[in-house]
Amino acid sequence: MDHKETFISCPVCKTSHVAPLNGRNDGVFASTCEHCGHFFKFRSVAPYKSSITFSVNGKQVTVGTEYDSSSTLNDFLRQSRISMGTKVFCKQGGCGICIVVAKMTLNPNGTPVTANINSCLCPLFVCDGWEITTVEGLGSTKTQMHKIQSTLSGFGGTQCGYCSPGHVMNMYGLMQQYPNATKQDIEDNFEGNLCRCTGYRPILDAMKSLVPATTTDIEDLSRKLCQTTGKPCGSRTGSCGGGCQNHSDSRSIKMVFGDTRWQKAANLADLYQMLSAASGQKVRLLGANTGTGYFENEAIKNFDVVIDISGVPELYVNTHDSQTKTFTLGSCLSLTNLMDLFKSEAAKVGATQNFDELKKYLYRVASSPIRNRGTWSGNLMLKNKYHSFPSDVFNIMTVLGASLTIGPTPQSVVTCEAFYNTDMTGKCLTKATFTEFGPNDVVACFKVMPRSQNCLAHVNGAFRCAVDKTHGYLVTSQPIISIGGISNTFHRATATEQYLYRKQLSSPSTIQGALNVLASELNPTAGSGLTSISYRKTVACALLYKFVLRVLGNTASYQYRSATTVLHDIRPLSSGVQSYDTNKQEWPLNEPLKKLEADIQCTGEAEYTDDLPAYPGQLHAAFVTSTQANATVQSIDTADALKIPGVVKVLTSFDIPQDAENDIQPPLSISNETEPEELFSSGKVMYYGQSLALVVAESQAIAEEGAAAVKVTYNNIKTPVLTIDDAIAANTYFKKPLPDITIGHPDQVIAGAAHQLSGSFSTEEQLHFHMETQASVCIPTEDGLDLVSTTQWPDSIQHCVSRVTGIQKSAINVTVRRLGGAYGGKITRNNFAAAACGLAAKITNRPVRMRQTIQSNYIMLGRRYPHKINYRVGFDDSGKLLGVDVKFYEGLGCLPDEKSAAMFPGSIDNAYYCPNWKMSMEAMRMNTAMHTSTRAPVTTPCVFMIEHIMERIARSLNKDPATVKQLNFYREGQYTPVGSVLTHCNMSAVMSELMTSAQVQTRQSLFTFFNKDNRWKKKSLAVVPVKFGLSTVYSMYTVNVAIHSKDGSVSVSHGAVEIGQGLNTKVAQVVAYELGIPVTKVTIKATQSVFSDNNTPTGGSVTSGEICKGAINCCQVLINNMKPVKDKMVDPKWEDLAEKCYQENVVLNSRFNVAGVHPTKPGDEIYHYYSYGAACTEVELDVLTGEYQINRVDIVYDCGESLNPAVDIGQVEGAFVMGLGYSLTEEVAYDPQTGRMMNNDTWGYHPPTNKDIPIDFRISLLKNAPNPSGVLRSKASGEPPLNASCSAFFALRNCIEEARKDAGQTGEFDFQPPATIEKVQLACLVDPSQFSI
Ligand SMILES: Cc1cc2nc3c(=O)[nH]c(=O)nc-3n(C[C@H](O)[C@H](O)[C@H](O)COP(=O)(O)OP(=O)(O)OC[C@H]3O[C@@H](n4cnc5c(N)ncnc54)[C@H](O)[C@@H]3O)c2cc1C
Ligand code: FES
Ligand code: FES
Repeated sequence: MDHKETFISCPVCKTSHVAPLNGRNDGVFASTCEHCGHFFKFRSVAPYKSSITFSVNGKQVTVGTEYDSSSTLNDFLRQSRISMGTKVFCKQGGCGICIVVAKMTLNPNGTPVTANINSCLCPLFVCDGWEITTVEGLGSTKTQMHKIQSTLSGFGGTQCGYCSPGHVMNMYGLMQQYPNATKQDIEDNFEGNLCRCTGYRPILDAMKSLVPATTTDIEDLSRKLCQTTGKPCGSRTGSCGGGCQNHSDSRSIKMVFGDTRWQKAANLADLYQMLSAASGQKVRLLGANTGTGYFENEAIKNFDVVIDISGVPELYVNTHDSQTKTFTLGSCLSLTNLMDLFKSEAAKVGATQNFDELKKYLYRVASSPIRNRGTWSGNLMLKNKYHSFPSDVFNIMTVLGASLTIGPTPQSVVTCEAFYNTDMTGKCLTKATFTEFGPNDVVACFKVMPRSQNCLAHVNGAFRCAVDKTHGYLVTSQPIISIGGISNTFHRATATEQYLYRKQLSSPSTIQGALNVLASELNPTAGSGLTSISYRKTVACALLYKFVLRVLGNTASYQYRSATTVLHDIRPLSSGVQSYDTNKQEWPLNEPLKKLEADIQCTGEAEYTDDLPAYPGQLHAAFVTSTQANATVQSIDTADALKIPGVVKVLTSFDIPQDAENDIQPPLSISNETEPEELFSSGKVMYYGQSLALVVAESQAIAEEGAAAVKVTYNNIKTPVLTIDDAIAANTYFKKPLPDITIGHPDQVIAGAAHQLSGSFSTEEQLHFHMETQASVCIPTEDGLDLVSTTQWPDSIQHCVSRVTGIQKSAINVTVRRLGGAYGGKITRNNFAAAACGLAAKITNRPVRMRQTIQSNYIMLGRRYPHKINYRVGFDDSGKLLGVDVKFYEGLGCLPDEKSAAMFPGSIDNAYYCPNWKMSMEAMRMNTAMHTSTRAPVTTPCVFMIEHIMERIARSLNKDPATVKQLNFYREGQYTPVGSVLTHCNMSAVMSELMTSAQVQTRQSLFTFFNKDNRWKKKSLAVVPVKFGLSTVYSMYTVNVAIHSKDGSVSVSHGAVEIGQGLNTKVAQVVAYELGIPVTKVTIKATQSVFSDNNTPTGGSVTSGEICKGAINCCQVLINNMKPVKDKMVDPKWEDLAEKCYQENVVLNSRFNVAGVHPTKPGDEIYHYYSYGAACTEVELDVLTGEYQINRVDIVYDCGESLNPAVDIGQVEGAFVMGLGYSLTEEVAYDPQTGRMMNNDTWGYHPPTNKDIPIDFRISLLKNAPNPSGVLRSKASGEPPLNASCSAFFALRNCIEEARKDAGQTGEFDFQPPATIEKVQLACLVDPSQFSI
């Protein structure tokens, strides 16, 4: 504690006193004079501030210790409800949905900096004096939308809308920081914003369209709304005069929170004094706190003393001394500052290329909001503390030859090498110095990471040496080789550096010699989350090889030169073309209208479950989950949790009422198993992450702390069964989902066929990765419970809450307004959160809410099923299928959910006719979470599998795969294995349009030349057709359309859920069309169980069509009801007609239940109609590292007569990009011992980012293709296009085959999805002995 005293003097006798304790704070206090006894009041201004003041959207706020020291700006914005548009998901800096713009007074001697930051990592108490702008501060639909908001909305850049405020704020921040940003700058700076729905193309198009052409544009983009005057204000330079300025109070901050003391140093001396005073305590120097995003140990709550160093002016020094040719960088400079420096100084000292290389490398570090705040010194400190951290900044500082200065006095100056092992306890890194590059210096940096951007490297390296080009590229200085990602001890290839010094790089023996030395000093460690040893070793060697090739430039042999380019660096701006027909005569039907909710999504006004206001007396809940996968619970000890202030209760299976059941299975399941799914385990643990108990507390943070404090012991621990192969070996089968099927004479035909092939193929799990995690709010009411929940199936929520509480279903009301992403993950998987909140609300009789963390969400809840097939196939010389025998395994996890294996026979044929089939389906039990439907649940693996077979057939016959595929296409009138007769079969039409528009053959022949000319880069394409059956089996939805008197406005209620698919917009268009009124007259209500009882889930792509069908029925009834009145009127206005009908007691609402088909016997038609599509994907591969990019994708999709082409194109793009993740980058990893899913967050799991999408993305909706079986001739679009995305996988496989040929290997090789860069590179048989120059 600080012991500095405050003195006050008595107003009567003037004696000076030590102020009473409270007089050390700000405020008015009273005291009695010790000398004369006079009682007096005095005003105290403490030497240090004990609260902070900043502004949000122009309004000042002051906060103190009522928030705890670990609180973030995001916690504050959401808990205070100042900005519910600012969302939260990962709390790791990995998704960008929390981005706000901050004008920060960091360096007291410098000018304020305005930039986008991740509010989830920004500690609340660093914001003193800052001006924060959130999405609400830019504009609103109630006043005026900001240009960025309206542009994103207008370009169709939102689907579920959960990511939209983050995108808006990222763009706003960028324009504040770089008003003259180019399209390239924009595309480069959205790497930290994830979107699971759109496929990014419309977002990027929207943002790039905003590139300012004039100063007025810049002003427009900088403008925000003044919260005081309500007028647009806040141009970058001025203000509206509404009094939005912050008052400034430059006193230092000292605050005490529980066990943590928070201080802000005002200068270096202050900092050193604080460090000395805190000697022996756990001290956290606070740069920007972004390190907490990755290393949980760095969280503020783990320290005794936090010292914010961001106000120390000496740490912002940024100089270049031309005399000594030395640069000095203060340790508080951010990574963005470093990039700007590399940009500006490069020109001055004439080493443009090397500085440019470093700047490009920095672009690949984290994301722009992280770089805006994260300091280079904080990054180096993370490397110092956690040697395994593959720091890119450490590589940069090493290659610069930086000297690092460490205080307090006596200061020491160390090299990066020495810093690596320096004990930094009680010390501060103050600056780095380095000298200019010499004229012959060459620098190259490489970062090899699991996707194109925003993740940590598998392996990274920075290389530097000076060469004399005139003497065979003689290395004239000791090279620097810094390589990360290898092991805790390795970071500098000193032996290789030594070897290369004074060698000629142009000599072929040099590179081979250097590679041998490097291989001998590389000793990668194995470990969870790390790629294989052989991969990291060959990649490290490949990076050295790339560096040497880069030095040699055009003197290297032609076929090797392209190895030097980094695909990411040469990626051009992405673009897209969307082509469709629209018939204006039919508008608003068929009109490419923007989504009804798009505007409120972009302004942050769209409300999601966790945005609901706090209810009086509300409690929060968090699950206690198992840390074993195959065991029995021995004991659950809740004592420590209950001791935490604010923990109210811990519920276990014993708390389920006598008259209720510990079972949250949904009401309708196509599974033929009857095992209950327990809300809380009653003893048996089936997977790591299983729900064991629930902690109920006064806040979400306390509930989570309480959950962590519950101690569970286990016995009977067994090795978990984690894969389908494990399950086959362990014989853990569920009941067969369907009897085996035989059509024709498959065994005979295959045996007699001219050609046979057999093999197996597996597809893996995929997270839904909805960014709104599962949430629920449950309020006890006079007759039961009201719930708002993140569900695609309100009836299931009603059902399972009723089951676990014993309250009858009719007394439980469920409401859903919209979901922040779902993709199937909220059909049954919200049952846990809802049932837990329901039970807790019943027991405590208080409202209970829960928002699961990203980790809890993805460890506890299942994902896309893994699958495997074993197959035999017979075919003729032309490639025509004669017989197929497939055994299909589906890994259900620990329990059966929908068990989609039953849909296998209807999907495995894809677009191909075959007269002889043998099919067998197995459902496997494993010690993983119960898996569940994920967008296109069974068709996706089936298409992947049959396409694998078709590609293999073509290869075996040395034929073009597209030709073999077309040869086997269904023809009009042919029967599928499930007995559907295909009428209006558009497969051939779709494919021939694609083959022509994508110029498939011409491009293929160009790749032949490219691949011959380039040993280390390969290009190829693959074409995948898709037939997709749309089924309404067992579906049932209620629709109600009501016309309101006076203004004739129309409200529609329905039993489906708006999950981003554009359902509400299509329904509004259809209703407006049917009634002949403008779409603006139609409002769609939130989904409510009280109205849509017994409805089935939203899913399977058909729901929009079914609801439109119901709405049409309702409209027809209403038109008939109104007809007699209308006939009496002369050409009435709609509003007058509605009013007149009202006066004449005409029933102005209509309700309709749309029921799907109910097959009663095997062979009954289950598909309503089929849709068709095809995609051609071109990829380019960097053989040496396994990195790839998608150059171009062409898709032709048969959407019938689209109800809304803009919405449908959005679905096609979004589904395809989600499928790219499934095929390529998204991999789920388990710990084989405990069964823990190891990558349940944004660090370990890698959905596509905006540079993982096709560079050139062309979508065409098939023209003149009305669907006679679809509502208003349309077809669905939500899932089918996802199935074509495996074309990227097959294109990559072709590239690998080319690389293997160069390596001397021909013939088949095993290659299974996802095609991670590691798998791709290993399959290419990269061997350093072939690294020639
Ligand atoms: C989403 C995300 C992505 C990232 N991606 C990458 C990546 O691709 N490559 C990469 O290299 N890094 C990456 N990082 C790491 C990032 O660069 C660092 O988190 C950041 O630079 C740390 O700076 P900071 O100011 O926030 O440090 P803080 O988090 O404030 O501090 C980190 C540690 O350094 C100590 N410290 C801070 N300043 C000093 C000082 N001056 N003297 C002594 N100790 C100090 C702190 O006590 C703490 O222990 C990523 C981080 C995030 C969150
Ligand atoms: S919530 Fe902040 S980046 Fe994900
Ligand atoms: S619209 Fe981007 S996540 Fe849904």
